[in-house]
Amino acid sequence: MDELKARILAEGQVISNGVLKVDHFLNHQIDPKLMQKIGQAFADRFKESDITKIITVESSGIAPAVMTGLYLQVPVIFARKKRSLTLSSGGLETEVFSYTKHEKNHVFLADGMLTAKDHVLIIDDFLAKGEAALGLTRLINQAGAYLSGIGIVIEKSFQEGRKKLEELGCPICSLARIASLEHGKVTFLEDIREGTH
Ligand code: G4P
Repeated sequence: MDELKARILAEGQVISNGVLKVDHFLNHQIDPKLMQKIGQAFADRFKESDITKIITVESSGIAPAVMTGLYLQVPVIFARKKRSLTLSSGGLETEVFSYTKHEKNHVFLADGMLTAKDHVLIIDDFLAKGEAALGLTRLINQAGAYLSGIGIVIEKSFQEGRKKLEELGCPICSLARIASLEHGKVTFLEDIREGTH
């Protein structure tokens, strides 16, 4: 998605340990117009997949997921990272390890949010090691629902997440695929393939 890639180049900051900071449009301040186009791009990709629900993890996945839900006209669920007052017990739960934060977290979903009839699309802001998306697939499996596809806004293709998700065998759509963040420079995968970097 050219507009997203242009925004990454213009506003993204490479943090020394291979992390891309995009706090001006995705992870802190959110650009609603860009999110709308992101939602439209995912919806175009998955419009023939009979999606009945979208799932993401709080918090940065929510904006692109909601915009996709708007275009596909399906509800959006976000897995919670803490049990809330209304989700004090029961429900579905799985452990997710964050390599970035070096900690184990649990994510939760209330009973009945997903059913065995659902065809589910996972949407997330970043794909790094793939742990968040794999955690969501475990919740989908626990509910007996069907995983129809995965949509990622920014994929760090130099980390192992993409490979792990490909083993699931479902369609994956990443709107920007980053081959490298070396020397503080963002290089997209397509640029390497086309020999333009
Ligand atoms: P994984 O899910 O692919 O395994 O990734 P990892 O554990 O490494 O990531 C943990 C958190 O860090 C996730 O957000 C993920 O989106 C984010 N993250 C990973 N790599 C980058 C990066 O290069 N740049 C930015 N900005 N974020 C990255 P989270 O903790 O769930 O945060 P949030 O959704 O509440 O914002």
